[in-house]
Amino acid sequence: MRKIVTGGLVLGCVLVPGAVIAWGAQADDAARLEQGRQLYEARCARCHGAGGEGAPPTFPALVGNDRLADAARIVGVLREGSGNMPPFPTLTADETSSLASYVRNAWTNDFGGVTPDDVAALADPSAQAGTAASVWDGVFTEAQAARGRLAYSGACGFCHGRRLNGAPDDPDMRSTPPLARARFLREWEGRSLATLFEYTRVTMPEDNPTSLTEAEYVDVIAYMLSASGMPAGANELPADSPGLAQILIRQRQ
Ligand code: HEC
Ligand code: HEC
Repeated sequence: MRKIVTGGLVLGCVLVPGAVIAWGAQADDAARLEQGRQLYEARCARCHGAGGEGAPPTFPALVGNDRLADAARIVGVLREGSGNMPPFPTLTADETSSLASYVRNAWTNDFGGVTPDDVAALADPSAQAGTAASVWDGVFTEAQAARGRLAYSGACGFCHGRRLNGAPDDPDMRSTPPLARARFLREWEGRSLATLFEYTRVTMPEDNPTSLTEAEYVDVIAYMLSASGMPAGANELPADSPGLAQILIRQRQ
C-alpha cells in the first residue's frame, strides 16, 4: 500500500481571518483522494454507485448527503457497520482516511479532508479498552458453542473447513480465510465482537448472506471462539450489537 506523506497537509476548510484555504489544493491531498477513489471503486461503488448516487432507500446516496459532514459517522460506519452496510474491519487508518476524504470531496461534495490521525482519534480501541471485556473472559456458554458448531457445519464448514482453518473439504474449491486461532486472531485483534457479528451477518454465508437468524450468527461466533481455545463461562453471548461492542477480540489473555 502506498504511503501518503501527511506533513504540511492543509486540512478541512481552514478559516483564517480574511482568507479561506480550500482543501484539495496540495499534492498530498491529491494523492489521498486518488487512493480513496480506487478503494471506493473496488469496495463501495457496487452499493453506493460510481457517482455516489446509491440506490435509495436501500443504499443511501453519498453525493449531496449532509450527514457526511460528521467525520465520526463515516469512520464509525466503516469500522462497525450499520444496518445492511457491512463493516470493513481490515482497512488501515490510512485507507480509512483516504476513503473518508474521497466521499467527502468527490462529485459535488465539499466537506473537507480527514487525516489518519483524525481516524486514529475517532476509532481508538484502547479508548474503550478500559471498560471493555475480552474474548478470554468466559463470554459464551458450552451449550451455545455446541449449538454454534451445528449451525457452522450446516452453513459455513463447506467453505471454511471442518477445522475452521479455511481449507474446504472439497480440494477443488478455493480456500477461504481461517475463522479461528492465530491467523484469524491476528487479523481481528482489537476489533469488537459487534464488528465481527455485523460483518458476518451482512456478508456471510458468502453465497447467501443474512440467511441465518441473529441468534444463530452469535452461536457460530461462540463456536469460533471456543475453537480458538477461549474458555466458556456462565452467560451466553448476547445477540445485540451494544452488548457485543463491549467485548474486544484479543490474541492473548
Ligand atoms: C453491501 C452494500 C454496501 C457496501 C459495499 C458499502 N455500503 Fe455504505 N451503506 C450501505 C447501507 C445499506 C447503508 C445504510 C446503513 C443504515 O441504514 O444504517 C450505508 C451507509 C453508509 C454511510 C452512512 C450514510 C448516511 O447517510 O448516514 C456511509 C458514509 C457509507 N455507507 C460509506 C461507505 C463506504 C465508504 C463504503 C466502501 C468502503 C461502503 N459504504 C460500502 C451499504 C453498503
Ligand atoms: C460460499 C463460501 C462461503 C460460505 C458458505 C461462508 N463463507 Fe465466510 N468467507 C468466504 C470468503 C470467500 C471469504 C473472504 C471474503 C473476502 O475476503 O472478501 C470469507 C470471509 C469470512 C470472514 C472474514 C474472515 C477474515 O479474517 O477476513 C468471516 C468472519 C466469515 N467468512 C464467516 C463465515 C461464517 C460464520 C459463515 C457461516 C455462517 C461463512 N463465513 C460462510 C466464503 C464463505
